[in-house]
Parts: sequence; structure tokens; C-alpha cells
Amino acid sequence: MSILPIYLYGAEVLRKKAKPVTKVTDELIEQIMNMFATMRAAQGIGLAANQVGSLERVIVIDVSDVEGYEEVKPLALINPEILSREGGEEGEEGCLSIPEVRDKVTRPTTIRVKYKDTNFQVQEIEAYNLLARVIMHEVDHINGVLFLDYLSASERKLHKEQLDKIKQGEVETSYPVVAMEEAVV
Ligand code: NI
Repeated sequence: MSILPIYLYGAEVLRKKAKPVTKVTDELIEQIMNMFATMRAAQGIGLAANQVGSLERVIVIDVSDVEGYEEVKPLALINPEILSREGGEEGEEGCLSIPEVRDKVTRPTTIRVKYKDTNFQVQEIEAYNLLARVIMHEVDHINGVLFLDYLSASERKLHKEQLDKIKQGEVETSYPVVAMEEAVV
């Protein structure tokens, strides 16, 4: 397993729509294992393929270290599709691609999600609260959307200085990263 560098805000790959996976190959399984390793090394609870420079519709999630979510098994979702959304709640979000930037985003509290597992079997789950939030955040990533996109212009302005630093690669992270100028896909 390898820990992959995470693409930072400003990298074009984070703004691209990833393509559906058509079959599970050994390479895809390896990619998923690497994504789990990368997410854990970075102490994240979710990671999308775009963030490691791959445009496949794959996300990994592990919220089992979060209080109240210990029972939730790590999930790898291939071609995830949100079937329904209910409720709405504000919650703070961050992103491994946008270090040190956190802000509040209102998202539905209950979702139904259809996806394919690593055997390429269709699965359907209901997710609530934090798990629902993480899934939606990661599904946004594979559609080229970042949580910053939900903020108002004035809210975004408050993060401008840090965002500029991130784009220039002037951030210190505990995990390997790729900044904009190096990010060629
Ligand atoms: Ni993110």
C-alpha cells in the first residue's frame, strides 16, 4: 500500500467531474487500498479519487474514530448516487485539499445512497448526520464541487489569504501534497 500525495485547492483535477467505473480491476482495488491508507495517514474521515489525482467515481470513508460512529464500518463507494435527501442541518466542514480552512455548511441530515461495492455489487444504504455529511462532501468532490462553493462571497473572503497560500503551496501539512503549479493531469 502506498500513501498518495493529496492535491491541494487550485489543482484542476479537483474541479473535474470524475467518470463512472465500468469494472473492478486489480488496479482499482489497489487504488482503493491506497486511498484508505492515504486518508488514514492524513487523519481524514473521507477521501475522493479526485483528491489523489484520479478521475474515477470512487470515494472512501471511515468515521469509526468519531464518537458515536464507532459501529460504522469503513466504506468504499464506487459510482455513488444520492437517491434522496431529507432534513437540513448546519455543520462545520474541512477538507484535506484545503488545509486549515473550516466553515459551516448546511446539508441534508438523512440520505439514501446507491453505490457499487468492491465486488461491483449494487448496495443501498441510508446514512444520517455526520456520515451523510461526509458522503455528500465526497460525492461533491467527484463532481468537481468543493465545500467552499456553498459559502457566500463574504464568507469566502475571510478565507482568501489562506486559499492564496494553499494555491502557492505555502502550507505545512502532516501529509504529502501536490500544489497547483505541480498539478498536471
Ligand atoms: Ni474534501
